[in-house]
This record gives sequence, C-alpha cells and structure tokens, in this order.
Amino acid sequence: MTAIASSLTTLPAVLHQAGRVVAGAGCLLQLPELIAQWRPQRLLLVLGRHVTQDPGLLAVREALETAGTAVVALDPVPPEPVVADVEAALAAAQSAGPIDLVVGVGGGSAIDVAKALAVLLAHPVAVRALLTGTPVPGRGLPTVMVPTTAGTGAEATPNSILLVPEDALKIGIVSPHLLPDLVLLDPLLTRTLPPMVTAHTGIDALCHAIECYTSKKQNVFSDLYALEAIRLISRSLRRAFADGQDVAARQDMLLGSYYGGVCIATSSTTAVHALAYPLGGRYRVPHGLSNAMLLPAVMAFNRIGSEARFAAMARAMDLPVQGLSDLDAADAFVQALAQLNADLGITTRLRDLGVTEDDLDALVAGAAKVTRLLNNNPRPMGRDDMRALYAAVL
Ligand SMILES: [Fe+2]
Repeated sequence: MTAIASSLTTLPAVLHQAGRVVAGAGCLLQLPELIAQWRPQRLLLVLGRHVTQDPGLLAVREALETAGTAVVALDPVPPEPVVADVEAALAAAQSAGPIDLVVGVGGGSAIDVAKALAVLLAHPVAVRALLTGTPVPGRGLPTVMVPTTAGTGAEATPNSILLVPEDALKIGIVSPHLLPDLVLLDPLLTRTLPPMVTAHTGIDALCHAIECYTSKKQNVFSDLYALEAIRLISRSLRRAFADGQDVAARQDMLLGSYYGGVCIATSSTTAVHALAYPLGGRYRVPHGLSNAMLLPAVMAFNRIGSEARFAAMARAMDLPVQGLSDLDAADAFVQALAQLNADLGITTRLRDLGVTEDDLDALVAGAAKVTRLLNNNPRPMGRDDMRALYAAVL
C-alpha cells in the first residue's frame, strides 16, 4: 500500500464554511432561538415546492409569528430556476417591506435563489450583472439555509447557480459573500423523499466527495471532508433508499451531502460532472442520475495513475481491501460503485433514456466545453476518451 502523497504542495489551503452549522433530528424547531441574535422584524422565507406543508416548517412559522416576527413567504421556487424567477422573487420581496433575514428551505434550487436574494435585497445591483461578471459587492442580509434533500450540498457552497435560458446555460454567481450565516441539517425534513430521488441525489453527493478527493484542486481540508462523506454515504445510502423513515441513515446522508458541498467549495468536481452536464441539457436526464450512470466508467478511467487515492477511498468505504495492492483496491472501489448503482435500481444505459450512437459526437462536444471541470481531472481526458466513456454506458 502506498502512502498518499503529501498535500503540502497544495498549501496554502482554503476552507470555506458557513458561519454556524447545527445538525440533528428536529433542529429546525430551534430556528426561532437560533436567529434571535438578528432580532428579525420581517423574515423572508424562500421555499422549495415540496416543503410548503411540512409540519415542522408550519410549526416554526407559527412560533415566529407568535414571537412577533412577520414571515413573508414567496411562491415556491421551481426546479432549475431562471433569472426571471429571481427577478420576480426580488420584486415580490421588496413589495413586502424591509426584510432583515432570508431563510431558504428546500433543495438546491430554493437555496441558490435564497442566497442570491439576500445579496440583491442588500445591495443595488442586478442579478444579470452578477451573472455577467460584476463582483458581489459584499455580504447580503443574514441567511439561514435548511436543505430538504441530501445531494447538492448547496447549503455549504458560496455559489448560486441559475439558468440563463436565452444562452441555454447554467451560470454560477460565486463569492464567499454567499456563504450562509447559519445552516440547519435536520434529517426529519428528508424522510419524505421518494426512493429514486434519494438514490439519485445521494449518488450526486457521493460524486462530489469522490471527484473532489481526486481533483487536481484537492487540499487538506477537502480530503478530510471527502473521506468522511464517502464513509457516511456508502454505509447509509442503501438504508435511506430502502426505508425513508430510517432517521439515522437520513442523518448520515444529510451530513455526507453537506460535507460534499464543503469539498466543492474549495476543490471542484471533475470529469463525471463535466460529462453529465450535456445529458442534463440535451436529454433532461436528472443531474444525479447523469452522474450515477457515468461514475463507475469515469472512475475506472481515472484510477490509473491515482491508485493510492483510490485505495484510500476503498478503505473509507470499508471494503475488504487489506493486504491488496493499491491497484487491486482501486479496482474493488470501482466495482463497488457499479454494485451500488445496481442495488439502487439505477438505470445504467443511456440507450434507455433515448440516447443513440448518433448523439455521441454532440455529447462529446458539449462535455469538451466544460473545461472548468475537465482541467481538474486527475488524468487528462481527450475527446476520444470522452467518446469511449459515453459509448461504454450507451
Ligand atoms: Fe452535483
């Protein structure tokens, strides 16, 4: 077994973190006391579509209003929010009177919109300007983020990703000013996620950890969070999928997803996400499913030259690899990823989603544009390699 190469070459390393993180079953109910430091008179609630009637959330709203905090709830944020959605939400929020605090409760879409609104409500800058390179002028209103899915890790990142339909592009506003002041990780909010959503989003979170651990931009902090995310997700994703009410498994998944987000904030994903993007854009394949289909094939490619890191991930997954060479342990890791997909009933063939051989060139052309991620891939990946990887999962 080879020791992992020292990460000293990547120092100075940066760790981006939310101001405060509270985790535990039922912690959403502590929200009124946790936000008391800001003495909010009027709070903006930015919700995802499926959480508006959550009993915990309704109880918190009632407690806030009883305590004298007005709650302004916007229309739920749609999946894949576009710039116009943010502009409409901003206008609605501004018409409600002065806001002191923004609370986002939902999946990645609601959280990303909440992050953007907190800045837009505090500074005279247009969202389109932020998307075209104007720097975020400073911290926005105080923010609280409460994820209700375990996948994107958006609550841990300094990014707000929005779709610009006229360019058919997703663009990120990225600034440390977007990091939340407070994050609540309450697994009770994720119990109603259907099994397939649990599977797809859970593999997305696993991808964040695996890709960041093997990214050229890995650092000492993301290594720590990535290995723990791999450990938590690999031990609990099957349980959360099989029984959504398993709160201990849901808690592991929510922590693993948050840790994956911490990794993304510094170390970036790599070729799995790069090759997944055109599948989302052209064929509307859900983000987590695209990543899941590509993960074993891309990791089989990437393991060559990074065997020691792959062996470390195999150990984090608690695979029986003691005494094996790093290459054999890396092989076991890749096989375990394929087995995880099979156990979760994840479609493994692009053909099943309507993709044909004739589409491969367009997919390669789309992926090749995602140089921001491809440049972080541990093994250089050319167009022929990408074509072979798509073909392998066709
Ligand atoms: Fe992702």
